[in-house]
Amino acid sequence: MIGNDIIDLALAKKESNWKRSGYLDKVFTFREQILIQNAQNPDEMVWNLWSRKEAAYKIYNRQTGIRSYIPLQLECIYENRNFGKVICKGNTYYTKTAIVGEKIHTIAVVEKLLFNQIKYLNSIVKLNKINGIPFFYDSNTDTIKPVSISHHGRYKVIIGL
Ligand SMILES: CC(C)(COP(=O)(O)OP(=O)(O)OC[C@H]1O[C@@H](n2cnc3c(N)ncnc32)[C@H](O)[C@@H]1OP(=O)(O)O)[C@@H](O)C(=O)NCCC(=O)NCCS
Repeated sequence: MIGNDIIDLALAKKESNWKRSGYLDKVFTFREQILIQNAQNPDEMVWNLWSRKEAAYKIYNRQTGIRSYIPLQLECIYENRNFGKVICKGNTYYTKTAIVGEKIHTIAVVEKLLFNQIKYLNSIVKLNKINGIPFFYDSNTDTIKPVSISHHGRYKVIIGL
């Protein structure tokens, strides 16, 4: 199982003002808010944590079929700028985040070994959806493979296994 999420920092800054009163309490747990407060670059930390939560949610949603807005139940365990975990209702998702310029991209997996199996797919690949969740049909092996799409502002990434 995989999930990914990409953020265009320039658009994120324009779209939402995380400094407005009460916003952080609605989206980030106490421990996450401490990370944001202590960060050298709080803006980057906000969107780094956000992208981890979204990437993990895409797996959670795929596993359970449950669709909901549950930012406080997706708790980031931050190891460093690039790695960590997200815990959601007893499930653990491992995250890997790359930050290049104004692009923040997180991949979430259920087992760390899967990080080595991630393939980047291009937009031409024909995707199917089941209940809104994307899959790739591999005609060579006659199997359905999970795919995760994310787009934001100037960026789009499609990954598969
Ligand atoms: C559904 C949701 C995850 C989409 O994320 P987004 O950042 O708005 O948009 P993205 O571009 O990253 O993802 C959209 C793609 O996700 C895909 N997608 C939806 N559910 C998915 C899942 N379970 N697994 C993989 N991909 C999924 C869709 O195919 C869509 O692509 P398409 O419109 O081209 O078909 C998000 O809107 C949502 O509902 N989040 C709720 C979870 C939550 O509490 N988040 C708070 C974070 S702090």
